Amino acid sequence: MRLEKVTALVTGAGSGIGAAVSSHFRREGARLLLTGRRERMDIVQPDDVYVSGDLNDEVFVASLAEHAAGAFGSVDVVVINHGLQASSPLTEMAYDDAKNVLHSNLLSAFLVMKHFAPLMPAAGGSFVCVSSRLGMVGMPGEVLYSAAKGGLIMLAKGAAIEWAPRNIRVNVVAPGLTATPIIESAFRRRSDPEAYRRERESQIPLQRLASPEEVADAVLFLASSESSYITGAVLPVDGGYTAF
Ligand SMILES: NC(=O)c1ccc[n+]([C@@H]2O[C@H](COP(=O)([O-])OP(=O)(O)OC[C@H]3O[C@@H](n4cnc5c(N)ncnc54)[C@H](OP(=O)(O)O)[C@@H]3O)[C@@H](O)[C@H]2O)c1
Repeated sequence: MRLEKVTALVTGAGSGIGAAVSSHFRREGARLLLTGRRERMDIVQPDDVYVSGDLNDEVFVASLAEHAAGAFGSVDVVVINHGLQASSPLTEMAYDDAKNVLHSNLLSAFLVMKHFAPLMPAAGGSFVCVSSRLGMVGMPGEVLYSAAKGGLIMLAKGAAIEWAPRNIRVNVVAPGLTATPIIESAFRRRSDPEAYRRERESQIPLQRLASPEEVADAVLFLASSESSYITGAVLPVDGGYTAF
């Protein structure tokens, strides 16, 4: 098992990519602390610890870290997966919505890093941040999300250098369009869902969406000792979208 004796926090674990990461990590032997805003998570298993709350709130993040210290002593792996997409033309986006996107994708990631790095053991640890292909390229209607996910990449790179002397690795997975429930329901809301899906797929070199499990495979690699000499890296899992 690739995560035997490893303790791990997964944020936004209740659905989509976070649920797939949790399932991969459990299969590989990790002990899991899961978190998200919803009060209950269907995916939580008897051996998991689940704590609900808002990661935009530093008081909650600090209490989550205390919980982790009490339950596990130390935390080896932290997957910062939670996030929020908000689409709007730039000139029509309300300032409060813009702040929410930046908080939910970037500043909350900073809070998790700040409060969980001190819990990593003396031998080191691994952070994996889930950014997006839109952290590397722009897209109309997604400007604030892109800015937040691009900021997350630079947060990870800076932290990777700052914490390298402690052997804390910090890496990024940048998924392309992934067939998670939130994306599938957005497709269903279109007047012709199948035509819309084909159009979106045609923009991707591999001509299809990722599955949440394919993204979780990359997260698992960067979390495990198989990537022991990789830090500050961005791994696109986007079917070639950013290869253009
Ligand atoms: N699906 C895609 O096509 C795609 C592509 C590129 C990148 N991504 C990124 O991949 C990650 C997972 O996406 P997904 O599609 O699996 O989305 P999702 O199903 O909406 O999952 C996001 C999770 O984040 C949690 N969350 C959001 N804001 C939070 C906050 N302030 N505090 C605590 N939890 C919070 C949500 O928890 P609750 O539901 O409990 O509120 C939710 O479980 C996100 O960072 C997303 O930006 C997704």
